[in-house]
Amino acid sequence: MRTPIASAILLLSLVKSLPAQDISRAEYAARRDSLAARIDSGLVIAFGAPDPTGIHEASQLPAFRYLTGFLEPNAAFVLVKRGGRVTGTLFTASRDPRRALYDGFPPDSAAVARATGLAVRSLPALGPYVDSVLQPGLPVYDLRDFASSDAARQDSLTRGARFMADLAAQQRTPLQIRDAHPIVDSLRARKSPAELALLRKAIDITVASQTQAMRSAKPGMWEYELEAQVEGGFRRAGADGPSFGSIVGSGPNSTQYHYTQNNRRMAAGDLVLMDVGAAYRGYAADVTRTVPVSGKFTPEQRAVYQLVRDAQAAAERAVKSGAPFGAWRDSARVVLGRGLTKLGLVESADATFDPPWSAGCQANPVMCTQAFLYMAHGLGHGIGLEVHDPPRYGGTGTFEVGQVFTIEPGVYISTRLLDMLPDTPKNRVMIAKVRKTVERYQNTGVRIEDDYVVTTSGIEWLSRGPREVAEIEALRVVSSGAR
Ligand code: GLY
Ligand code: MN
Ligand code: MN
Repeated sequence: MRTPIASAILLLSLVKSLPAQDISRAEYAARRDSLAARIDSGLVIAFGAPDPTGIHEASQLPAFRYLTGFLEPNAAFVLVKRGGRVTGTLFTASRDPRRALYDGFPPDSAAVARATGLAVRSLPALGPYVDSVLQPGLPVYDLRDFASSDAARQDSLTRGARFMADLAAQQRTPLQIRDAHPIVDSLRARKSPAELALLRKAIDITVASQTQAMRSAKPGMWEYELEAQVEGGFRRAGADGPSFGSIVGSGPNSTQYHYTQNNRRMAAGDLVLMDVGAAYRGYAADVTRTVPVSGKFTPEQRAVYQLVRDAQAAAERAVKSGAPFGAWRDSARVVLGRGLTKLGLVESADATFDPPWSAGCQANPVMCTQAFLYMAHGLGHGIGLEVHDPPRYGGTGTFEVGQVFTIEPGVYISTRLLDMLPDTPKNRVMIAKVRKTVERYQNTGVRIEDDYVVTTSGIEWLSRGPREVAEIEALRVVSSGAR
């Protein structure tokens, strides 16, 4: 019989050998055609990532990568649509020879033209080229070069933003600048078969490596040892590396959603939450498992874990093509509200409180329910070239075939939740009722996050790692040789 370690190694080697083709030149061309089909006429100007800072490798900006597949820094892409005719030109930067000794010699333009199927020119030609094709009244669609969709909310004076500001300032008639990100986001929301294959590979690598780490967690071990194990597994299986900073939080750290220091020594009786994801050829997985460091859940931990799992299962049932995002979000919140009431952590499923956050209860009533305090994050998001990829599931909209996304409910219990509340009569009543229970569940943070694809018949669960209470406890019983 194979030992669990041998099975895991076999699984890792199988994962490594599965084929996953890069995105083809034809698919990149089809993406650009789809973009062109969504605009009447105009220019689309997309900016790639700037030079890397220090010795860290730059990674290409997602919208730029999506349209071109070109990974070198300081590039720009211009698509022109006029009178139904579409042309695409890639502008690439040269590299100082001494710099190239550090960062590598960029491919020559003939090779880039062959690989991308695009006309290629040098970056200094970008301004004159845009001047030559821009006519009064022709709109410019801008794909700004913020590093990620999360960064888009922050103001940043990037290379692309400066170029657009200068371009606008040079025009005699006001330039119509439109944001092209919503269009490209809508294309990116639906994954092609080639993209799904790369995501499957990223997810398989993630689950295999994470399952190993779930087996090996034990009291006295440091969080960073699990992090190293998970990330080492990613690279050994041929992944690019982690798709985001690995989150390995034990004990009190399990209650911080995005804890990445990973430098605490784990103790018997702790939970450890591992939210990790490999990137494979740029495509990001995102999977969370929470396990008891000693191998077996305490009754309190088990109750919270099962509640989170039930919420996830409810959300899984709420997804099919055409199902609205709002009903999906509510499905998990309803289960959590009932369960938290039963545990005595809220006064009732829809009881409200005076929240410490500024958002108005009128605009978003759920944020003022007591239950929200225990999971003040979203239920899930798309995954793809970004770990938070379109669609982002925050507003209105419906699930559609080809969307690849996470469902990641959690419950995080800490007396800090009560300590941060404003001192109001309503909050005093709530705190008086729940404090003892919160203390009993102190430092219990559970998140379960899985990856799925919407299919014509429902959804497919992609991150098929152990996640039921019995499966998680069995992992450790077997590997410790107790059976
Ligand atoms: N790993 C970040 C998230 O789950 O959204
Ligand atoms: Mn996630
Ligand atoms: Mn995650």
